Amino acid sequence: MSKGKVDALLGIVFGDEGKGKVVDVFTPKYDIVARFAGGPNAGHTIIFEGKKFVLRSIPSGIFAEDKINIIGNGCVVAPDLFMAEAKELEDAGYELRSRLHISKRAHLILPTHRVLDRAYEAAKGKNKVGTTGKGIGPTYSEKASRTGLRIGDILENFDAKYAALKTRHEEILRNLNYTDYDITEEERLWMEGVEYLRTFPLTDTEIEINRALREGKSVLAEGAQGTMLDIDHGTYPFVSSSNTVSGGVCTGLGVAPNKIGEVFGIFKAYSTRVGSGPFPVELFDETGDKIRQIGNEYGAVTGRNRRCGWVDLVALRYAITINGVTQLIMMKSDVLDTFKTIKVCVAYEKDGVKTTDMPFDTEGWQAVYKELPGWQTDLTEMTSEAQFPQAFKDYIAYLERALEVPITILSVGPDRAQTIIR
Ligand code: GDP
Ligand code: IMO
Ligand code: MG
Repeated sequence: MSKGKVDALLGIVFGDEGKGKVVDVFTPKYDIVARFAGGPNAGHTIIFEGKKFVLRSIPSGIFAEDKINIIGNGCVVAPDLFMAEAKELEDAGYELRSRLHISKRAHLILPTHRVLDRAYEAAKGKNKVGTTGKGIGPTYSEKASRTGLRIGDILENFDAKYAALKTRHEEILRNLNYTDYDITEEERLWMEGVEYLRTFPLTDTEIEINRALREGKSVLAEGAQGTMLDIDHGTYPFVSSSNTVSGGVCTGLGVAPNKIGEVFGIFKAYSTRVGSGPFPVELFDETGDKIRQIGNEYGAVTGRNRRCGWVDLVALRYAITINGVTQLIMMKSDVLDTFKTIKVCVAYEKDGVKTTDMPFDTEGWQAVYKELPGWQTDLTEMTSEAQFPQAFKDYIAYLERALEVPITILSVGPDRAQTIIR
């Protein structure tokens, strides 16, 4: 934790690395936890004291009752989904309004953005991105084309602004010949969500965060998605639509680059990807099935199978560079507990050409592996590094040497308590 700075905790592969769990573990050390990008396409799981929550738009710092949580200007918010998520927390006894501040500059996801998301995917046919269907792409596109609506817009003359944008969307949908949809009920809930949002502090979070930093307070920026899904640096066009990398923290919260402190890069002891797009380490065999089964690799938002494979050093090295990662966090090591051997992708190969640099087009590349011995020991009850079997220590040391960044935290189970800080 750095006083007067924003530390960032970022997924550095294809998302679902366990960001929610670690943000929850880190929160006691920080004053503010803030989301800077993405929206309800995220699904961040937090498990403690026999309870499980999956957060989409609300930061994972919300369970520590004395901390401020911020949904920053770089985020996109769907009022109906926000309401459902927030009410679940309220029902569980968490008071939100004094602690959850939402940027007036964050963009609104309209019901018709979600229809557009489906329409654009349908039009792409076999090249579809496999989006979460939450309207993320259309909302960020409209932000860039300067036609979107922001949270602050709900405070004044909203009905007219909403109607105008909805009409525009209907026109686009007609032009796409995509007219078989009915959002009547969805829109009713959405409008209820807008009323509900009005009861929250809708603020200039950029000013609030910078004031807190001047007072020496500490901020944790919670990433969503992962570097390989970043709109600029991911496997375009099979990506999400925001900047998920550390640069996105600056634009998505309104903080200057010199205010960034530690950059925690979080990854799993293996790889997963949900949705379409190149994934050189993907395993189509029973090893892949075994990882999926033991790791429970089914999407937290859509329930889809996550594609599974071995850890990818090409992607990790690239992400470490792009983000300026200062510390690594390795999750779900326990999932590999029963494997006799473990592989690591050290390079990509295509047409006899090998590379360790992330290629422009990751399509068609094969992974080149190095094999390491498995530890074949149950890690889930371990509470300190001293208890680790030698083969697991060797796996950690190998990755640290290859990545040139220390792995300072290891997670050996989904519970808050199953976290080992080295
Ligand atoms: P996020 O999107 O990065 O917050 O990650 P998700 O919540 O989508 O996916 C991570 C999944 O792994 C969740 O179901 C977590 O409960 C679970 N999880 C997190 N850490 C561990 C771990 O160390 N071991 C195991 N077995 N599961 C974990
Ligand atoms: P968290 O924060 C994993 C993927 C989708 C799809 C692509 C684009 O839980 O790690 P979108 O709906 O954003 O337009 O979909 O990005 N995707 C994620 N994959 N974890 C996520 O979030 C994701 N958010 C989006 O599956 O391939
Ligand atoms: Mg997730």
